[in-house]
Amino acid sequence: METIRLDKYLCDLGTAPRSEVKKLIRGGRVCVDGRAVTAPDTKIDAQSAAVTLDGEALVWKKYHYYMLNKPAGVLTATEDRRQKTVLDLLPPRLRRMGLFPVGRLDRDTRGLLLLTDDGDFAHRVISPKFAVEKRYDAKVEGTPDETDAAAFEAGLVLGDGTKCRPARLEITGPDSCRVTVTEGKYHQVKRMLASRGTPVRELKRLSIGALSLPDDLAEGEVRELDEEDLCRVFMDR
Ligand code: URA
Repeated sequence: METIRLDKYLCDLGTAPRSEVKKLIRGGRVCVDGRAVTAPDTKIDAQSAAVTLDGEALVWKKYHYYMLNKPAGVLTATEDRRQKTVLDLLPPRLRRMGLFPVGRLDRDTRGLLLLTDDGDFAHRVISPKFAVEKRYDAKVEGTPDETDAAAFEAGLVLGDGTKCRPARLEITGPDSCRVTVTEGKYHQVKRMLASRGTPVRELKRLSIGALSLPDDLAEGEVRELDEEDLCRVFMDR
């Protein structure tokens, strides 16, 4: 049983701006189990109550999980005074839900980014302790080779002494490779490849665990994750 106030129920869903939710309720537009409820502080069981707004059924969930195909040129942050952030790409309803990015992609990195309001989930995805694999396609200057792959496998030590966990480097072309890491240090993939004399020109995240960026999710588009997707995040490919 998850007992919450009716106004919080509507806010959690991003139904309307916080300031308007109380007005909606007071205006008699919200029904609970078939009856109009006009007191915003009415307590309801969020999991079992049948709530409608203007006759449309609402479905409450404790936490929310989305994937975004992040374009280059957008900041992985929830707000910024000057630059466009990943939150700015979301439709208004999702922007009101308290979502935040799970980890960080650089401004010029594209690809799979998860968004949630579940802090524990985010921690499990990011923390090296859980070793969730993040896979990237990189276009590089120069040509990585099997010696570089062996160095990745052994665990690189970067110029400033930072020790990296063993990682996978697959050569996919004369100036491209695929890198799989299980941690997310600052500019990690770029610094790893630069340390081998093959600096990154373009970077795209392809997958997190066994969850891949779908081919039909265009850059800038967002999609809710289902139960199966969530399990995939913690599975190896
Ligand atoms: N590694 C990087 O260097 N940049 C990213 O955006 C992600 C991983």
